[in-house]
Amino acid sequence: MNLTKKTLLACIVQFALIAGAPCASDDVDADLMRGIDDTAKSLDSDVAQKDAKAAAADARSLVETFARVESHYGQKPETADAVGFAHHTQELAAQALQAIEANDFDAAGDSVAQLTRSCKNCHEVYKKD
Ligand code: HEC
Repeated sequence: MNLTKKTLLACIVQFALIAGAPCASDDVDADLMRGIDDTAKSLDSDVAQKDAKAAAADARSLVETFARVESHYGQKPETADAVGFAHHTQELAAQALQAIEANDFDAAGDSVAQLTRSCKNCHEVYKKD
């Protein structure tokens, strides 16, 4: 093993020890939220166009992302409410996904409308400025 590889390996080990987490960032920041915003808008239009495949992919991505948001807040005792907001939003995305998979686009539309409203609940408390 040459020096570069050794150094790289040491870095990876160190990073894993310090961060104690996988390499994917679990930060809830503006970047992550802009991605969420894009996906939620795309989900809304996919459902309106009854594009089951694209809608299911977007809903699945929101379920996964809000699971990450939930676990991010779960690590901090002072943000207990955010865990609930994230969990609720995740449930609505899962509901939308179920409806899409059942080809019930009316129900999916309802879930997406509720999902969009649920973003605001968290923003009112946790989004500064
Ligand atoms: C669990 C809490 C929570 C939920 C639920 C949530 N957000 Fe956010 N959102 C935040 C926080 C905190 C910020 C501020 C992030 C920052 O600027 O560091 C934010 C910021 C944003 C921003 C502004 C990003 C920017 O450019 O500054 C957008 C857009 C956004 N959220 C969209 C959404 C959408 C769409 C949903 C629902 C599908 C959602 N959010 C659900 C916590 C949440």
